[in-house]
Amino acid sequence: MSLVRIQNIMGSELSKRVFLSRPPEPPHEYLLNDPTDSIFIGTTKVFGVPFTWTFATLTNPHLAVVGITGAGKSFFVKTFLLRASYIWNTNAIIIDWAGEYKGWVKQSGGTVISLSKGDYINIMDLSGMKPIDRSKQIMNSLDILTDIGDYPEQRRLTAEAIEQAYVNSGFALSQIPESNADAPTLKEVTTLLEEKLQEGSYEYPAELENALYRLRQFTREGEDYFAKKSTIDIGKLASSGLVSLDLSSLPDERFRALAAMFILQTLKEKMRSTGWSGTKGLRAIVVLDEAWKVASDDRSDAITIVREGRKYQFGLIVASQNPTDVNEAIFSNVGTTVMLRIRFEKFMNYLQGSLNFSNFIRTEIGKFGVGQAAFDMSFHSAVQFPDVFLLERIVGEEPLDVYTISIAEILTPGELDDQSIQKEYYLERIDLNSKLIESGINPEVIAAIFKELDKKERIADIRDLVRIMIGRGINRDVIVGFLRGIKIVDALITRIFSYIG
Ligand SMILES: Nc1ncnc2c1ncn2[C@@H]1O[C@H](COP(=O)(O)OP(=O)(O)OP(=O)(O)O)[C@@H](O)[C@H]1O
Ligand SMILES: [Mg+2]
Repeated sequence: MSLVRIQNIMGSELSKRVFLSRPPEPPHEYLLNDPTDSIFIGTTKVFGVPFTWTFATLTNPHLAVVGITGAGKSFFVKTFLLRASYIWNTNAIIIDWAGEYKGWVKQSGGTVISLSKGDYINIMDLSGMKPIDRSKQIMNSLDILTDIGDYPEQRRLTAEAIEQAYVNSGFALSQIPESNADAPTLKEVTTLLEEKLQEGSYEYPAELENALYRLRQFTREGEDYFAKKSTIDIGKLASSGLVSLDLSSLPDERFRALAAMFILQTLKEKMRSTGWSGTKGLRAIVVLDEAWKVASDDRSDAITIVREGRKYQFGLIVASQNPTDVNEAIFSNVGTTVMLRIRFEKFMNYLQGSLNFSNFIRTEIGKFGVGQAAFDMSFHSAVQFPDVFLLERIVGEEPLDVYTISIAEILTPGELDDQSIQKEYYLERIDLNSKLIESGINPEVIAAIFKELDKKERIADIRDLVRIMIGRGINRDVIVGFLRGIKIVDALITRIFSYIG
């Protein structure tokens, strides 16, 4: 027997032994759970065991999902939410920063709430809270989003005016109101500050002016998304099936963060006041996708939900390209971390450092294709196996090819407010394709159009769509025919062209 062969035999013996003492996957009783009480995710890479997720054996129901753009974070979230709703009837609230869920939510029979496209939130709504508590929350949001914390006098004036607005509207500060109606808005708060300024008796008018200036950012005509009567009942969000709050058309990150924080505050209160239900599985899941400002701040209610969620069967999913954007208190406390493809060494080091997985796993993560994943789970009881394991791939629901065409950008503020005017058109790929063909657009241009749309998460501003067509030499009559075909009225068609020039 040659030396080489002996070495071979020893090598494989050795690896077998390592294998037996340190299995690369949790035992199947941890992976394969009761199918009527768990969510199928995919099969494991080494032993091909079907992995179904339940939080019964985990420290808590929350998930962090990390991976580079295109790795499959949103795909995983969608799959997870759909199955949770089949299995447990779980409600879901997606705080949709980039608007990438709305087409899918519509298609799945859920509700899309588009802030700035006709839907408003009054951040002074009480939804069963005491005015004094809501006032504190509003101040907390202002602390996170503005520099008000640096100016104690302005902060005091603002807080006082908020409370005064409640009192003027007939609320007792420390009482839970009987009805949700007639909460004041931030406009009433600014009016109070203006009146105080005009009275002229206050010692430091500059402080008042600055406090006013800061609040006016949120009450200016056209940017008063949170300073009008609500068009939605936020208190009911956690029990309304699948809901996405599309924040993508708000003008900037500050507005998005304010909306997200308000929703989280309200959901947290709902969670606490509803109590434990004792039913199977999860009652509601809140999704924060790329909402880094909200997921990273120490004062965010995302952290409260992570700390207290388990006992209320309330789960949080945080998805991010950058794991260091997720607050430590969230990251180190989630029961499940889903690692998709990671590219940056810096992020890999962070993950390996906090989750403590082997270099073997590290190398595998570095080689992942779309949908391949490593799972880290924190089990209740101390376990004798590595808790990070690989999945062949996340097995999803068939991707739904829904395209969203938005006309909101060409509507007037009045039209945006009008609930009867459609702001977005949702078309399945097949429908859109046949509408384009019927209008007489040639296949090459159609392919180019789909390519553009796919690059933009299947969402298009109508003007961009028309620009692509014009750029490809499609004549105006053909384009008009297409726009009529998707049911846009002539007056708006004229306007679209006038915007393009
Ligand atoms: N497990 C999977 N099986 C099949 N297709 C997948 C899978 N995961 C992702 N995809 C497809 O890959 C594309 C990118 O996925 P996805 O949008 O989920 O990426 P992402 O990580 O959310 O990216 P971003 O950070 O840009 O939002 C989508 O078209 C999606 O349908
Ligand atoms: Mg995504």
